[in-house]
Amino acid sequence: VSLRGRNSFGVEARAPWLIDVADAEALPQALALPELRDGLALVLGGGSNLLFAGDPAGAVLELSGRRVRTLDDDGERAVVRADAGVPWHGFVMQMLEQGHAGLENLALIPGTVGAAPIQNIGAYGVEVREFVHAVEAYEPATARWHRFDAAQCRFGYRDSLFKQAPDRYLIVAVEFALSRRPQLRLDYAGIGDELAAMGVTAPTPRAVAEAVIAIRRRKLPDPAVLGNAGSFFKNPIVPTAQAEALLARHPQAPVFRGSDAGTRKVSAAWLIDACGWKGHRDGDAGVSAAHALVLVNHGRASGRQLLDLARRIADSVQARFGIAIEPEPRVVGASW
Ligand code: EPU
Repeated sequence: VSLRGRNSFGVEARAPWLIDVADAEALPQALALPELRDGLALVLGGGSNLLFAGDPAGAVLELSGRRVRTLDDDGERAVVRADAGVPWHGFVMQMLEQGHAGLENLALIPGTVGAAPIQNIGAYGVEVREFVHAVEAYEPATARWHRFDAAQCRFGYRDSLFKQAPDRYLIVAVEFALSRRPQLRLDYAGIGDELAAMGVTAPTPRAVAEAVIAIRRRKLPDPAVLGNAGSFFKNPIVPTAQAEALLARHPQAPVFRGSDAGTRKVSAAWLIDACGWKGHRDGDAGVSAAHALVLVNHGRASGRQLLDLARRIADSVQARFGIAIEPEPRVVGASW
């Protein structure tokens, strides 16, 4: 089965089997299929956060259930459960239409509900962890079902329990705790300006989503037009002293608060841009001209070519700034 149409980079990769599971309750039976004798290589969501640098080493599974159900709603706070296969952006907009605020800053992120907790998707000052009530998952090795609350998910910056132990748990549904009392988060640079440009003086969650959509459309290439997986590198977390040394030499380098005391988060886009990579192109593998953090496939680049380019970018950042940057998407068929 070709996976070219199932990854947002649009690179070719082939799997021996692609198994679609519409009802998560059938997962144990699906995993017992003879096609999975040699193991499950991968669970595919929207394919928007992975790079096929080679073929997956076995069958690929897809969870296509798309139910959304309100479990609890006291008129103020609601718990909404969505199947893993629900497309993320549509879910965000559906919640806003129903008056449930919280996810507006996360509008237009590609991918599925089930993928959102894996790397704790985040944008414009908000991370999904703040709204995750519980994650339901199946553990093939023990044939057990689990329900993890937010603390048990061990969320970090683009990180979670699920990312640390890839494929150990198959996420089948996520419950979100949302509110009818918007607490808008406009602190991230750009959102306020965008709202002002839109002529919005009393922002609603819906307006914030529109502002985020406008910014993303301007800055990030549309994967349907130009293959990409969003930010290809995480912003590196470095010791405060190292961030200060960077700032002493480059006062304009964007440096943010780190997740732990004694750390700072440095802008990977700035580091890559400073090394001259923005708009660079090797054949069909390139760096977006609009955003240095985004690798793009101009047509027929292979995953291997994109990975080679990524390695050269990381090497140059390491050589010039002494800072290691790491991929954000999952690299399949090769190790970083
Ligand atoms: N910058 C450059 N050159 C560029 C682009 C940006 O120097 O080509 C500098 C600018 O100074 C800018 C700073 O980098 O102020 C930060 O840029 P931006 O606001 O675009 O955010 P980012 O740190 O590059 C992160 C997330 C994005 C998320 C945005 C907005 C990561 C790895 N990326 O990017 O998430 O949308 O913030 O919140 O944390 C993703 O994860 O796929 C993703 C797109």
